Amino acid sequence: MTSQRFTGKVALITGAGSGIGRATALRLQSEGARVYGIDANPAGIEETVTLSNGAVVGVVADVTDQSACKRAVADCVERLGGLDVLGNVAGIVFMAHFTEMTNEQYLRLMAVNVHGPVYMAQAAIPHLLQRNGNIVNIASNAGLMGMAYNVAYSMSKGAVVQLTRSLAMEYIKQPLRVNAIAPAGVATNLVKGVVFPDEVDFELIKPYIGHRGAAQPDDIAKLFAYLASDDAHNMTGSIVSSDGGVTAG
Ligand SMILES: NC(=O)c1ccc[n+]([C@@H]2O[C@H](COP(=O)([O-])OP(=O)(O)OC[C@H]3O[C@@H](n4cnc5c(N)ncnc54)[C@H](O)[C@@H]3O)[C@@H](O)[C@H]2O)c1
Repeated sequence: MTSQRFTGKVALITGAGSGIGRATALRLQSEGARVYGIDANPAGIEETVTLSNGAVVGVVADVTDQSACKRAVADCVERLGGLDVLGNVAGIVFMAHFTEMTNEQYLRLMAVNVHGPVYMAQAAIPHLLQRNGNIVNIASNAGLMGMAYNVAYSMSKGAVVQLTRSLAMEYIKQPLRVNAIAPAGVATNLVKGVVFPDEVDFELIKPYIGHRGAAQPDDIAKLFAYLASDDAHNMTGSIVSSDGGVTAG
């Protein structure tokens, strides 16, 4: 039987309609959490609810909308009785030659990957503080190394890394932990949707592909469950790589 580290706990997971967010929502639910999942994609979040046999509360919300983030947190607290864990998982990616990236692509990526976690954390922290709660952000190896043709994404994940460390420091004297996971390639829709721009130099891409192939969403979900649980009570401000060694050398 799976350990039950989240019995009596409530977790709000963004991006719960696919990939790592879905795997995390299902993992925490299997360990006893009551899970409130949000996603911008109605079909995705509906499927997650179905996969949980109706146990996960699924809500359609866009993390780039600050009012929607506030509403989601308030609704979660009202329906599930509080909040112990915030998982900022929703994210998007595109690849482009830097000078060909459109302003629309750039602003949308920053809105989802950076503003979303900020809005969610702002809304959630007052509730998390009441219950010795914690935040787990999904950063990326892209936040720890430079990536050709991926400049905006890499910048956005660098911001998630520093959001994690800086929030950890702001609340270091209060009962809130803030950590991040930095995966490299994980087999999800996000990766399937990546289109390389024309005329890329693959020598520049090789360092962030690595040697061990893609991880599975559940690999990241298991690490998330550890970090969000009391087992990781000594961890805050940590950026934990689960990347098959991509950032090792
Ligand atoms: N897959 C990888 O290789 C990989 C590697 C490192 C980091 N990550 C990060 O992991 C996180 C999860 O990615 P994934 O691989 O599971 O991708 P995914 O595409 O499978 O899932 C992302 C989910 O986020 C949702 N989403 C997108 N924009 C949203 C918005 N504005 N509001 C609410 N939901 C929104 C999508 O609908 C989707 O369901 C992302 O932050 C991503 O950057 C992924």
